[in-house]
Amino acid sequence: MRKKLIAGNWKMNKTPSEAKKLIAELKELVVNDSVDVCYCVPAIDIVPAVEAVKGTNVAIGAQNLYFEESGAYTGEISAAMLTDAGVKYVIMGHSERRGYFHETDADVNKKLKKALGHGLVPIMCCGESLEQRESGETFTWIRSQIKAGFDAVSAEDAAKVVVAYEPIWAIGTGKTATSAQAEEVCGDIRKFLAELYDETTADRIRILYGGSMNAGNAAELLAQPDIDGGLIGGASLKTDFGKIVNYDK
Ligand code: PGA
Repeated sequence: MRKKLIAGNWKMNKTPSEAKKLIAELKELVVNDSVDVCYCVPAIDIVPAVEAVKGTNVAIGAQNLYFEESGAYTGEISAAMLTDAGVKYVIMGHSERRGYFHETDADVNKKLKKALGHGLVPIMCCGESLEQRESGETFTWIRSQIKAGFDAVSAEDAAKVVVAYEPIWAIGTGKTATSAQAEEVCGDIRKFLAELYDETTADRIRILYGGSMNAGNAAELLAQPDIDGGLIGGASLKTDFGKIVNYDK
């Protein structure tokens, strides 16, 4: 049985002091032992955030890492830095990074392998644009992102990965995919993972939905058989996040 993961993606929001304040505000609200919870915070917030969640079930995630071990890569952050700081999860391949910062499928694959090599849990994002959906390319596109992201990753490692299906047209737009649309793609991702690996491995991989998930639509999305959690942007910065974490109550 896959444990649900409710992951907040703070994006480029909250200074270190604001991060501490938000974590304190949400502390009593995000308590639910039946799910895993994490906040993927900006790099500079990681250290205070790890300190602020001590004694709770909330883990801290990063929003990016670099795929080299260490060295002359000004501005980048390594997997070892993240683990040493107490980070558990790391996002890669988010559509904002693919779009604005030219992160390619090959980069995503290298980042995924580097993260796994350091015991970090990768949250690998994929998702189609509105044009791709309208021209019927969704499944082929998502499958190509999954294939490239998991290239040369063993079944044992693949099982540790979290995939986040985030249709680009639903991110930050208030336009959520219907639970049927989200389940259709998440189900196809699992089917494809079973083709790439095997049923057992595919059944172990957590697949999240992301894109305008909020306190009002979370329960229905999370009730879908192939949706194992959410990657939540806007609503993760508000007390609504507590309601999403407690969607089953
Ligand atoms: P949103 O963002 O919930 O604000 O749509 C989701 C994401 O980009 O991870």
